[in-house]
Amino acid sequence: MSEVRPAPAGGVWFGGDHNPDQWSEEVLREDIDLMRRARVNTVTVGVFSWSTLEPEPGVYDFGWLDAALARFHDAGIRVVLATPTASPPPWFSRLHPEALPVTADGVRLLHGSRDTYNPAAPAYRAAARRITRALAERYGAHPAVALWHVHNEYGTVSYGPVTDAAFRAWLQERYGDLDTLNAVWNAPFWSQVRRSWDDVHAPQATQYLHNPGHMLDFRRFSADMLRQCLRDQVEILRELSPSVPVTTNLMLPSWHHLDEWDVAREVDVVSVDHYLDDEGPAGEAHAAFGADLARSFAGGRPWLLMEQATTVVYDYAGGRMLPKAPGRMRRNTFQYLARGASGSLFFQWRSPLVGAEFFHSAMVPHAGADTRIFREVAALGADLAQLGDALSDPGARPVVAARVAIVWGSDAWWATQTPMLPSGDVAFLPAVRRVHTALWEAGIVTDVVAPDGDLSAYDLVLAPSLIPVSDTQRASFEAYVRAGGHLAVWHFAGSTDEHLRVRAGSGYSAAFAELAGIRVEEPVPLPDGAVLTLSDGSTAGSWSELVHLVGARAVALYTADAHPVIGAGSPAITRHAVDGGVVHYLSTRLDDAALRTHLARIVAEAGVTAHPDTGDGLEIVRRRTDDGHVVFAINHSDAPRTLQVTGRDLLTGDDVDGTVSVGPGDVRVVREGTGPAT
Ligand code: GAL
Repeated sequence: MSEVRPAPAGGVWFGGDHNPDQWSEEVLREDIDLMRRARVNTVTVGVFSWSTLEPEPGVYDFGWLDAALARFHDAGIRVVLATPTASPPPWFSRLHPEALPVTADGVRLLHGSRDTYNPAAPAYRAAARRITRALAERYGAHPAVALWHVHNEYGTVSYGPVTDAAFRAWLQERYGDLDTLNAVWNAPFWSQVRRSWDDVHAPQATQYLHNPGHMLDFRRFSADMLRQCLRDQVEILRELSPSVPVTTNLMLPSWHHLDEWDVAREVDVVSVDHYLDDEGPAGEAHAAFGADLARSFAGGRPWLLMEQATTVVYDYAGGRMLPKAPGRMRRNTFQYLARGASGSLFFQWRSPLVGAEFFHSAMVPHAGADTRIFREVAALGADLAQLGDALSDPGARPVVAARVAIVWGSDAWWATQTPMLPSGDVAFLPAVRRVHTALWEAGIVTDVVAPDGDLSAYDLVLAPSLIPVSDTQRASFEAYVRAGGHLAVWHFAGSTDEHLRVRAGSGYSAAFAELAGIRVEEPVPLPDGAVLTLSDGSTAGSWSELVHLVGARAVALYTADAHPVIGAGSPAITRHAVDGGVVHYLSTRLDDAALRTHLARIVAEAGVTAHPDTGDGLEIVRRRTDDGHVVFAINHSDAPRTLQVTGRDLLTGDDVDGTVSVGPGDVRVVREGTGPAT
């Protein structure tokens, strides 16, 4: 982890990606005027500008960037300066075709889009270091540059000969020799014992199923390649620009090719990009989820919302763009700020006239400044300016004090992508999202925590999807429970070790079974549409298990509609008191209402409560500052809601005392009155 921990300072960061290399002088002058009108104080520059910055290998054109930085500096706008390495220029691909990415089907991709490189290719790594060094030498001490933005959403995966060589080296480093590798992967299964390292390849398309251990190690390797690419640049920036902090923007996960905990350790400031995935209320749950992830990855350090959309963003599943209703951008922004962000930036300042994504939304849309969108942007800028420095960094204390955490691990995500699990319906992200959403609806602010992270800050830790659990992690969960923690474990969690080898002997969920006071004899996946009724009236489906009690008490039983393997009267939900702690086990997938009830029960038992005014569309979060708390009340509903609070409304400047109304779709931000900072 970095020694440098400067916080994004100077009010709430507000602005967006700006591309001076795409616009005329006249437009650039207008941009500064519009930025002043919108109270923009931050721009991200040069994210994909490699081909303009380095038109030929080793030949640089910095003139336009010099002018841009000077213009922003004169206008009092800070710059987040990007390294452009997510988009190598065409000359690079021409000179280094071996550095182009290869798909799992063995197809070498050609230049034409972005992210068209192989992170393991030495030529790519060298070119990325060179442009980073050139930028750092020129701008490392530039007064406008407030933050380095390395790359963009690392996430490229490549196969092929270059990758094979790097993968072999990575495996040698991890396992030492082939005998160990063969043992870890149980290579005799389907005759896969390797006698030479040349027999080891990245898992390109093959005749039928790959070895799961091989697949998992390739995911880890690919994530490590991306981390190495990041580290290459961070080292250069720290050397040449020691007083400017470094970030890289994480994509709020829908796909997953890196390990966020590892990436967070490499940077000074965590940043995340958030694009709504739903036009309905689920979108608000998604925004809260993104913010809770970013805050947790940051681990108490400052973090930023690096990108969001003012309105339309592409919906890949739906094949059209999703618009944001009036007011929604503002509410989403305040959700991020409430949950700890130092600012909210947008992709992008101005919509390009042509180019991929040319109809993606921006702060200044194609229709110009006389638009609903720009008016909302300017109004938001005015709101954020009102906050001034009120959201000051609370230092060593958490910016939002979450007492509940969901376990988040890359291995856990990747494990659920293994073919031939008992059910294909065990995906990691949906399981985590369901639990987070239910807690968000109940007004419980939730962190995520790594499976080997420090659990001690939490009263309740939930593991909705956690197939691989190492012995060290198992011991850490046990220590947490024995010290009084409450742990909620979902079906099939802990069934394998970290190599996806089933934990033999005692049954499934074996890493947790003893602690949970149960034995899981047999998983029984259920067909789509199957509905189970439990003895407490809960309905469930998708998965069930034959569970025996070994010290635990049954909270709910399967009933007559259970699969014949299980039968009526068999435990479905269990609870086990261990020393001071409690372990809850859930052997089936509850429907949404039953999940809410289950969570309400275990949250209450852990002594965790929501803000009393939360609910019915009113989201309330207390954000800690260096000298107290700021309460954010965000009304996602179309009816007025109320909140009990005393202090100063930071948006209106009014003092409030007692019942405060929050209008439909509106936001109140109140610095709480005198009282001890907790
Ligand atoms: C982000 C990306 C941006 C832009 C945006 C579109 O993930 O960083 O460059 O592509 O998506 O929504």
